[in-house]
Amino acid sequence: MARFIIDGGHRLNGSIRVHGSKNAALPILAAVVMAQGETVIKDVPRLDDVFVMLEILRSLGAKVAFHKNEVVIDPTFIHTTDVPEDLMKLMRSSIFLMGPLLARFQSVKISKPGGCTIGSRPIDFHLKGLRMLGAEIIERHGYIECRAERLQGGSIFLDFPSVGATENLLMASVLAEGETLIGNAAREPEIRDLAAFLNQLGARIEGAGEDTIVVHGVPKLQSTEFRVQPDRIVAGTLLIASAMTRGHVEIQNVRPTDLTAVIMKLQETGVQVKPNHDILEVRSQGMLKAVERLQTSPFPGFPTDLQAPFMSLLTVAKGTSIISETIFEDRFKHVSELQRMGASIKVDLRTAFIRGIPELTGAAVEATDLRAGAALVIAGLGAEGRTILDHVYHIDRGYEAMELQLRSLGAKILRVQDSLERLEAQAE
Ligand code: UD1
Repeated sequence: MARFIIDGGHRLNGSIRVHGSKNAALPILAAVVMAQGETVIKDVPRLDDVFVMLEILRSLGAKVAFHKNEVVIDPTFIHTTDVPEDLMKLMRSSIFLMGPLLARFQSVKISKPGGCTIGSRPIDFHLKGLRMLGAEIIERHGYIECRAERLQGGSIFLDFPSVGATENLLMASVLAEGETLIGNAAREPEIRDLAAFLNQLGARIEGAGEDTIVVHGVPKLQSTEFRVQPDRIVAGTLLIASAMTRGHVEIQNVRPTDLTAVIMKLQETGVQVKPNHDILEVRSQGMLKAVERLQTSPFPGFPTDLQAPFMSLLTVAKGTSIISETIFEDRFKHVSELQRMGASIKVDLRTAFIRGIPELTGAAVEATDLRAGAALVIAGLGAEGRTILDHVYHIDRGYEAMELQLRSLGAKILRVQDSLERLEAQAE
């Protein structure tokens, strides 16, 4: 199993381009099953979750080619709508196939996704919404079977602006008969990207990125060529990593307005962030300041996916910072690992109190999930001495060759696959 060996205390310097967004690419790849003929998607990140999604599409009968960061998919020969259980288990995001397969082929069968390390993650909003569009849904023996002759437009109000449910229902409704209204929709930038893609295929969607989305159903979609938006969470991670090492980095291929909440919190700590079109320049020096309150919330609020990385930064910010996690119930798994590195953090239910210390110290730690893993890389980059980070396969789900990207900025980080002793020697 791969691990990272990180020698901390080296400033990040230079410029780097952010890759395409995982969370935008996954629903877009699922939506391609509704297109006709060959569709080309550009700037698709080469990540494990993307490989799983493409494998599922192949298993359904689609023709798929992935070269560099370009995917070409032809769904013409899809012959089944049963998503294989072994692949489904590898990635929760395979639920994105529910809406599009149901809309195009009138049926879909998936195995029920379980919870994960950050929370129970139910899919009740997805199912309730699909029922409102006329789907008949049977849940039995761990499977979910959905059927509908043709979905019918309707009014859906989400109890919470769930990103995944908004995307699934948006995809399901583009081929439905009549008009669909999705109220209390999520406003994340990835929804805007998905809607832009669907509209390029011939869908008629208005209001994506706002809290009410209106979809005028069309009988069929065509094919298109589309470029996925940059990954705002990767950009945010790089911003925080640069700040942690007191570095000076130019981050290219960013939409600064997608990161406003993060930039403002960084500025509160004393980090300088300068937007310039699609570039962010980040620079930090000296001791950072604690933030009084950081609360995760749906977009445009502070993204839950950057809560753990930001906590790493706050462990060395002067004063006491308070972080509240409001989106997922169990997203503080990184705390005990940061404590191993010397951080002073107390947790009370969904709130963490972080008392800044002058410096973290390298330790052997473990990534428990994707963003917790990113947080520990950041901690390791800023820490004194060596950090050995295990279970980096979590990180590979969301960051394309993270260690190479960081190395290009001057970080001392190495991926190793072998027994600890030999690898430590190699890292010298
Ligand atoms: C997506 C992102 C993930 C991000 C999250 C919140 C992808 C592939 N993943 O996840 O990186 O952290 O948005 O920004 O885009 N909920 C229900 N019932 C449902 C659906 C959700 O109760 O049917 C709850 C969840 O348990 C959670 C909250 O709603 O507490 C938000 O979840 P949601 O926005 O759906 O997150 P995902 O789409 O799973």
